[in-house]
Amino acid sequence: MPVPPSAAVRRKLEKAARAAAAASYSPYSKFRVGAALVAGSGRIYAGCNVENASYGLCNCAERTAIFTAAAAGEREVAAIAVYTPTPAPTMPCGACRQVINEFGPDALVISVCDSAERIETTLDALLPAAFGPRDLNVPQPPAPRRRR
Ligand code: THU
Repeated sequence: MPVPPSAAVRRKLEKAARAAAAASYSPYSKFRVGAALVAGSGRIYAGCNVENASYGLCNCAERTAIFTAAAAGEREVAAIAVYTPTPAPTMPCGACRQVINEFGPDALVISVCDSAERIETTLDALLPAAFGPRDLNVPQPPAPRRRR
């Protein structure tokens, strides 16, 4: 299991998740969500929810952050923070839990909101006995080698 991120990194993630919500494209729900994750490299990637006129195609902030990290070559999520504009913290939706599991089966999940309330839990607690790469005989995916 990877070492859990330090308190300083967790604070950075929370700040980045709050900041990411500013770019939210959510004209339908008007629910501005931000997420930020720390990847295997130690870099932080952020994302916001991106909605669509075809409602079923809306993408949550968590998945935007994860796909952005994956596109940058990351293959490990150590921790992910999500900010929702709510009085109490909320948890990632089921679809996002499954997507977090692909790269972060041991990830720490942090939820923050508009009050001082916060929740810190683990992906395993939110999605126990998850279906994942190993069920298809695929090991935890390694990060691709960078071309020089
Ligand atoms: N949403 C997220 O981005 N993350 C969550 O954790 C909860 C829900 C988005 C999806 C949609 O754009 C809006 O919030 C309302 O569901």
